[in-house]
Amino acid sequence: MILLTGATGRVGTAAGKALFQAGVPFRVLVRDPEKMAVAGPDVQVVQGDLSDPASIGESLKGISRALIVMGNHPDQAGLERQFASLAADAGVSHLVKVSSMEAAPEATAALPKNHYDTERHIISLGVDWTFLRPNYYMQNMLMYAASISRTGSFALPLGVAKTAMIDARDVGEVAAVALTGAGHAGQVYRLTGPSLMDFHEVAQRMSGVLQREINYVEQTPAAFRAVLGQFIQSAWQLDAVCELFAEIAAGSLEEQNSTTADLLDRPAMDLESFVQQFSQAFAPLD
Ligand SMILES: NC(=O)c1ccc[n+]([C@@H]2O[C@H](COP(=O)([O-])OP(=O)(O)OC[C@H]3O[C@@H](n4cnc5c(N)ncnc54)[C@H](OP(=O)(O)O)[C@@H]3O)[C@@H](O)[C@H]2O)c1
Repeated sequence: MILLTGATGRVGTAAGKALFQAGVPFRVLVRDPEKMAVAGPDVQVVQGDLSDPASIGESLKGISRALIVMGNHPDQAGLERQFASLAADAGVSHLVKVSSMEAAPEATAALPKNHYDTERHIISLGVDWTFLRPNYYMQNMLMYAASISRTGSFALPLGVAKTAMIDARDVGEVAAVALTGAGHAGQVYRLTGPSLMDFHEVAQRMSGVLQREINYVEQTPAAFRAVLGQFIQSAWQLDAVCELFAEIAAGSLEEQNSTTADLLDRPAMDLESFVQQFSQAFAPLD
């Protein structure tokens, strides 16, 4: 039996849908079962929390493979490592972890450093593992949907740095592949979308799909921090996101490869299709 954490999030929802469509039974550990996108006799739901070892223990009964993914949070690293240890103790033989492309021994920003250290922890447990290290999620653009609707522009402190944005749903589908297929143990998958582009090109492509001019405004790090501070309460998270964006501005995500397409046996989702699907969110205000 497979267990998914983060099954109400972007990656976990897509992993669950892929398993569901393939007819593979699985279990989820979720805080709020109402948020599950799929339901049925093949989907077992354990209500719990990654900060609650008792509910984790309940969810791990009879599990052989598990997906580790949760949102960025000050306690993320500790909770993911605790879950991994409990999973290994419970006899789980293969852990698939969503990490990030910047995770590396030399990573200094808190988020990729935590991902890398958690990867090391999982390796130390002696179980099989697969690490998914995705590029920038296309879904991040939805954070700027209100700005794009209102002003036709979005601002980021990324200069002309390039990313190979990936649809988070593709990451979830890759997770389902790694959880169900053979040959994924000991693999680090660096996952990208199909195109390497800076955000001026992102804006240009969005303009083409949305049939109106969208502009990318190069923002200073200080202005980014001031705007973000209005939405993020946690000082840790604010620092973590700002240092991550400084690394991206310096080129940490300038990599494109065919791994996602190879693993999914289809092209990775492109930005145009993504924007088309979410065009309502970017539509101008009347
Ligand atoms: N954004 C990017 O561009 C990017 C790029 C590369 C890698 N990543 C990595 O991707 C991961 C986030 O994936 P995502 O976008 O799928 O996340 P997401 O949409 O924010 O979903 C987070 C999931 O974690 C669950 N969760 C959070 N805290 C929990 C807890 N204490 N107990 C149980 N469940 C908990 C949430 O449950 P609720 O629904 O109950 O909140 C939700 O299901 C992060 O590790 C991030 O570093 C992101």
